[in-house]
Amino acid sequence: MKVLVTGGAGFIGSHLVSRFLDEGHTVAVVDNLSTGKQKNIHPKARFYKVDITRPGGLRRIFAKEKPEVVSHHAAQVSVWQSVQNPVFDARVNILGTISLLQECIVANVRQVIFASSGGAIYREPKTTPPSERGVVEPLSAYGIGKFSGDLYLRYFWHIYRLNYVSLRYANVYGPRQDPFGEAGVAAIFAEKLLKGESPVINGSGKQTRDFVYVDDVVEANYRAFHAKARGIFNVGTGKETSIRKIFSYIAGCIDPMLKPSFGPAKQGEAMRSVVDASRIRRTLSWKPRVSIKEGLRRTVDSFKAERTQSGSVA
Ligand SMILES: NC(=O)c1ccc[n+]([C@@H]2O[C@H](COP(=O)([O-])OP(=O)(O)OC[C@H]3O[C@@H](n4cnc5c(N)ncnc54)[C@H](O)[C@@H]3O)[C@@H](O)[C@H]2O)c1
Repeated sequence: MKVLVTGGAGFIGSHLVSRFLDEGHTVAVVDNLSTGKQKNIHPKARFYKVDITRPGGLRRIFAKEKPEVVSHHAAQVSVWQSVQNPVFDARVNILGTISLLQECIVANVRQVIFASSGGAIYREPKTTPPSERGVVEPLSAYGIGKFSGDLYLRYFWHIYRLNYVSLRYANVYGPRQDPFGEAGVAAIFAEKLLKGESPVINGSGKQTRDFVYVDDVVEANYRAFHAKARGIFNVGTGKETSIRKIFSYIAGCIDPMLKPSFGPAKQGEAMRSVVDASRIRRTLSWKPRVSIKEGLRRTVDSFKAERTQSGSVA
């Protein structure tokens, strides 16, 4: 099958590209390298350094590659940036997504798989984790953009019968996550601790997130691709882990004597974020396989290896 992955030079997208190639598919990557990295691009994938918002750019690539499946992972990924500059966020995450969907219609694409967000769109849970029917109440322009993507997918299905799956990810972590971005607390902590610095925990550290390992996310994508399912699916563990706990697991892999620093709480930050992923479990028999401790150990190992390769450590 011919697969086009937008955002394939990024964290999640690059892992997906490897999986599609390993399974014998042909892969083209579209990425403007704004947060993605050249070194993440698989040598067997054809790479187009193109911005998804650039008129004409996508049209030429679709005409050349004739993809059957499009995995849409390119996005403006910073919640903070989306609050500072909602117009830019909407340009990439809403208009960019619509442009891509239009090209899918022109090129007769069979299926689109979209990286949506469980963490950024649901109302903060008081009791049980939200299912896909949970109340949508995004608190950032980023969340609004991701939810718009879901709505446009449904619209394109109704009007054009463009088959789609939207995967609403919880907090994804793992090797290749950017340790210098604002999100990705595991990557940020691992990088700081390996440098011998003390990471800052915002607020009490008792805030919880649903951490799902990147290989499990890739598996969810691959099942969605294979089963030719349609609709919206939460992708998470249904379990909450506090930021303090994440710190202590990571410190445990490096030096258990290390201690965090505490800074002021981030304004507007949710205390809890978790999703109910029973629909994908029922429909696609997907369930997370990598425990948080194991996932963090693998993440720290990969950061150590990267530092050794780049010569950051003797
Ligand atoms: N990491 C998470 O926890 C998480 C959670 C929910 C949803 N997501 C979604 O998953 C996707 C991948 O996120 P990630 O964590 O791998 O981030 P990432 O920043 O590593 O990947 C995003 C990629 O998109 C590319 N990109 C950005 N704007 C572009 C544009 N205009 N044209 C072409 N390429 C562009 C970037 O260069 C980068 O390679 C995103 O859509 C993100 O919103 C991620």
